[in-house]
Amino acid sequence: MLLDPSATHCADIALERLWPALAKRYTRHKNQHRLAVFRQALQQDFKRLYDCMADLYSDQWDFYFHLEQSLTQAAQAWMTADCDHQVYSAEQHAWLQSEQTIGATGYVDLFAGNLRKLHDQIPYLNEMSVGYLHLMPFFDVPEGDNDGGYAIKDYGKINPLVGTMAQLKSVATALHDNNIRLVLDFVFNHTSDQHQWALAAKAGDRRYQDFYWLFRDAADKDPYSPYLRDIFPDKRAGCFTWNDELQAEVWTTFNDFQWDLNYQNPEVYTAMCAEMLKLVDAGADVIRLDALAFTWKQPGSNCENLPKAHRLIQAFNAFLRLAAPGVVLKSEAIVAPDEVVKYISADECPVSYNPNLMALLWEALATRQTKLLIAGSQARSRLPEHTVWVNYLRCHDDIGWAFADADAWNVGINPHDHRYFLNQFYTGQFPGSFATGVPFQADPKTGDCRISGTLASLSGLEQAYQTQGPTEHAIKRILLLHGIILAFKGIPLIYLGDEVAMLNDYSYRDHEDRQSDSRWVHRIDFAHTGAGQRTVEGTPQHKVFTGLVDMIKLRRDHPVFGAGDLCVLPSVAENVYAFSRTYQGQTLLVVANFSERGCRLDVAQCFNLGLDATTVDLITNLQLDPVEGLELAPYQQLWLLNSR
Ligand code: GLC
Ligand code: GLC
Repeated sequence: MLLDPSATHCADIALERLWPALAKRYTRHKNQHRLAVFRQALQQDFKRLYDCMADLYSDQWDFYFHLEQSLTQAAQAWMTADCDHQVYSAEQHAWLQSEQTIGATGYVDLFAGNLRKLHDQIPYLNEMSVGYLHLMPFFDVPEGDNDGGYAIKDYGKINPLVGTMAQLKSVATALHDNNIRLVLDFVFNHTSDQHQWALAAKAGDRRYQDFYWLFRDAADKDPYSPYLRDIFPDKRAGCFTWNDELQAEVWTTFNDFQWDLNYQNPEVYTAMCAEMLKLVDAGADVIRLDALAFTWKQPGSNCENLPKAHRLIQAFNAFLRLAAPGVVLKSEAIVAPDEVVKYISADECPVSYNPNLMALLWEALATRQTKLLIAGSQARSRLPEHTVWVNYLRCHDDIGWAFADADAWNVGINPHDHRYFLNQFYTGQFPGSFATGVPFQADPKTGDCRISGTLASLSGLEQAYQTQGPTEHAIKRILLLHGIILAFKGIPLIYLGDEVAMLNDYSYRDHEDRQSDSRWVHRIDFAHTGAGQRTVEGTPQHKVFTGLVDMIKLRRDHPVFGAGDLCVLPSVAENVYAFSRTYQGQTLLVVANFSERGCRLDVAQCFNLGLDATTVDLITNLQLDPVEGLELAPYQQLWLLNSR
């Protein structure tokens, strides 16, 4: 009878066999305690690594070799780390849930110039109490179009325009000294076509050709092509790119210079584990798994969110627990909400973007109606223990209308037509729209489109300037949206520049490598954002920045914003969004008006929100008595705190 490789005792036997050789390597290591703790970590977590790898690769001729390889890599990372590791426990990552953790994200070159100068920007980050900093990839990339750093040539080398590995380590240390955790991208779905593996493949090396998906015969694509979605339809139809040197088509989900890795090959998995360790070594606390939904391919499927993609990510997670248990994975799944949540667990990605909330907040801002926001966030905000949302409004990418069709139908909205409306609205084509966004990857074939633009431009500030109209509503919209993500459960993430109301920058249109990618309209040199104005009273920059910093301070003063349970409340008025957070006898009630018209909630509506006694609004510090009803000014939000 054949032995089932997933039988429980198989992992134990494998470990028993592999351990002696491993331990021998470190017999002379000065820190034998470390080795002993590593042995304990294996006791606890090796089986997970084994199981994941067996599920993915046990039918491959060299499975056992790669299992040993993974274990050796993990041991090496553990034994040579700068400080002692503890055996993994979810409590190590409690900081993720804390009200203290405020996130920010941006590009090193745009925000600071380079890694060396990033040190000088730390005081600025401290002004906002940033504790989680996601820096876009700054590794070695080809010149010209490199998808904003997402076409990586070498993880061991920093783009010389940005700095050196030594400078990165020094920045990481400085950030840590300031209680700022570092988040780095692991672009593991693809490499640049200039990566040494791709070069070797092109030069005819069969081993490296097996690192990618090559199709010499067009018919070999047939099991895949008809099912795939175009991610960058503006640039190219289909997911394949002809390469002359290889006389083959290469799988390229994104740009034609980004070659998808072939994870069916276990050598790719172990090689990428080694690359991931370079991020750990550089000082990353969180590793953002870029485009993770696309990493496994299977004939007859759309090759997104496949069960084996999940298994692969779990394998990376299991590996990390043995190599660097303090580091966590973050999911970048910008897909349908039902799929987004499948990546989120302590054993897969404990951290995830919340694209559903992001899209719904913009939706409510456009419609001045909160029914879809309520339906979508009510159904989809709860996460498993030890995991956390990253709640954001803007990032370096476009806005896709990633709410669930079912949620829309449930509140009487046709999702297809509604997405069309939202695109018209945010590109300023819908009559009366306040937004000045730019379409991204409009696909005439499907009618699909996404939106680029800065938070301030999408919120109406640019239009207010153009028409010399009042800026008040735009500023309130910016603060309203930020207030929601600050009060919501999860890590609020600020896209650097939005805190000073930066506007769209259209100069990318004159830039050969950028003009075909409208996301550059919101990827802006920080020096051009007018951030200095934040200290000049009366300016929009000042109003936005101080409003934001005040709310950050409130959040950090009250633990209810961190650990508090979240409950999204049923509708009390069509333009009102309300949710509560409860923690240790305290209740915070957030009530927000998504309309430019003021509104009044009567006693009954207040009662429905659970307001039955005098309460204080943290934001204005005013006492409110629900017996008199509640007044909400245009775009006002209340943060009502009750202690019982
Ligand atoms: C991710 C990045 C995006 C990039 C894509 C391909 O979605 O956020 O900027 O274009 O992956 O790497
Ligand atoms: C697609 C991907 C997403 C990425 C985006 C880049 O939507 O699903 O991961 O951020 O393209 O614009």
